[in-house]
Amino acid sequence: MLAAHCTGCHQPGGIAPFSLTTYEEARDLAGIALAAVEAGIMPPFDGEGTDDCAHRLPWRDDPRLSAAQIATFEAWMEDGYALGVEAEIPPPPDTALGGVTHTVAPPVGYATGGEADEFICFVLDPGLTATRWMTGLQVRPGLPEVVHHAVMSAMPPGDALDALVAEVGVGQPFACPGGVAALDGSYLLGVWTPGNQPTETPPELGIPMAAGAAVIVQIHYHPGGQTHAADATAIDLRLTDTPPANVYTIAAVGNAPAAPQLLPGPDDPVTGPAFFIPAGAADHTETMRFEVQGQAGQRFGIFMAYPHLHYVGVSLEIDIERAAPVAGEPADECLIGVPAWNFDWQRSYQYDVALDALPTVGAGDVINVRCRYDNSMANPFVQRALAELGLTDPIDVRLGEETLDEMCLGIFAIVLPNAPAGGEVQGLPPSPLMLVPVAPR
Ligand code: HEC
Repeated sequence: MLAAHCTGCHQPGGIAPFSLTTYEEARDLAGIALAAVEAGIMPPFDGEGTDDCAHRLPWRDDPRLSAAQIATFEAWMEDGYALGVEAEIPPPPDTALGGVTHTVAPPVGYATGGEADEFICFVLDPGLTATRWMTGLQVRPGLPEVVHHAVMSAMPPGDALDALVAEVGVGQPFACPGGVAALDGSYLLGVWTPGNQPTETPPELGIPMAAGAAVIVQIHYHPGGQTHAADATAIDLRLTDTPPANVYTIAAVGNAPAAPQLLPGPDDPVTGPAFFIPAGAADHTETMRFEVQGQAGQRFGIFMAYPHLHYVGVSLEIDIERAAPVAGEPADECLIGVPAWNFDWQRSYQYDVALDALPTVGAGDVINVRCRYDNSMANPFVQRALAELGLTDPIDVRLGEETLDEMCLGIFAIVLPNAPAGGEVQGLPPSPLMLVPVAPR
C-alpha cells in the first residue's frame, strides 16, 4: 500500500522529506504515516468534496487509501509490524506516459535556491508544422526534490506568442509568479504534482494544438533553503494527427469583481458587493452566482475541473443547478469541492467516467461558486506569503494576480464535437457557453 500510494514522492531524491521505500522506514514511521492518512493530509489530494458539495462521480487517479486499506494498515501495526516477504516490496509506481511522440525541455533549465519558493516559466517549442491533438501529457522533473508542481498551457501562434518570445526567448527561464493563465489565447493542458499518473484523455477526445503552437510551463520550485544544480524538467506529449471525434475547450467560472455575479458578503462597503478580504479576517466568504448562456437544448460534458485560489483561500465549492438535466443526472450537483485548499498541492481533477456519462452543463443552468478565506496569521500560507513580501502583518486582500491578491476560480474543460475533419485549427474552439450575471437568490 505504501509503495502504491506514497513512494511516488517518499523515495530517495523525491519531493517528500523522507523515504518510505524500505520495511524499516515504514515500520519506524508507521505512527505518523497513519496519522497523516487519517487526517486526510497524505497522500495530498484536495478534491475531497465537502458536506455541502459532495461529489457524485469518482476522480481518475484518486490516490487516497480506502477505509479497508486504512484498517489493514492499523491491523498490521497492532500485529507488531510483521515483515512479510521482503523480496516482494514493489518499486514506486511507474508514471511513464505511453506512446510519447514529442518531448520538450529547456536546454539548460533553472537552478533554484534559497528559502523562498520560486515560480519560473519556460516557453517550449514542440515544432508543430500541422494541427495535432494531444491525448496524453506527463512531466519528468530533472531534480524531483525541488519541483513541487507544474502547470502546462498551450499558446497558439500569433502576435501574443511572438511578443512573449521576443521578450523571454524560447527555452529560457523567466519569473512568472502569476502563472500564464492570463496570457492571450493560452489554454490549460494539465496540472502536474509529484507522483501523478500521466494526464490522458478518454478515447475519442483530444486537445487541439495549432501548427506553431508553443507549450508554456510554469514550475513551482521548492528549494528548501539549499542551493541546487539546474533543473531541466521535460514534458512528454502524446500527439495524434488523426482528428478525434471530440475536442475540448475551456470555460472558466468565478473571479466576479462586483454585483450582480458577486453576491453580498461580509465586509462589503456601502457601495455594494466587493471582492474584499480585510486584513485579519479569519473566516471570510465570497459567493458568486452565474447563469450559463448559449444555444438552448445543447448540453456539454465537463471533462476536467481545476479549482484555483491563492494563499489566503482555505476552501472552494462549485455547484451547478441544471435547467434541463440529461436522463439520470441530478438537477443539482457539486462539480468540485475542496474542503482544505493547499496552494502547494493544486492539481486538475478528471471525472473517471466515459464521455457520455460526464456531468453536463448547458444554457439556462446556474453555477454557484463559494470560496472561504482566512486572512489571519493563523493561516500558515498567509505567514509564508507575507514573509516572501517582507511584511509582518496581514494586509487587505482584493481580486488580482499578485501573491497577496486572491482568486475564486474554477476552470473547466468541456467536450465539444470536433469540427469536420481535415481543417487546420488555430487554437481552442470557442466556448459555446457564456456566463452572465444573474440576480441573487
Ligand atoms: C504527491 C507526493 C506525496 C505523496 C503521494 C505522499 N506524500 Fe507524504 N509528504 C509529501 C511532502 C512533499 C511532504 C512534506 C510536507 C508537505 O510539503 O506537505 C510530506 C509529508 C508527509 C508526512 C509528514 C506530515 C507532517 O505533518 O509533517 C507524513 C507522515 C507523510 N507525508 C506520509 C505519507 C504517506 C503515509 C503517504 C501515502 C499514503 C504519503 N505521505 C504520500 C509528499 C507526498
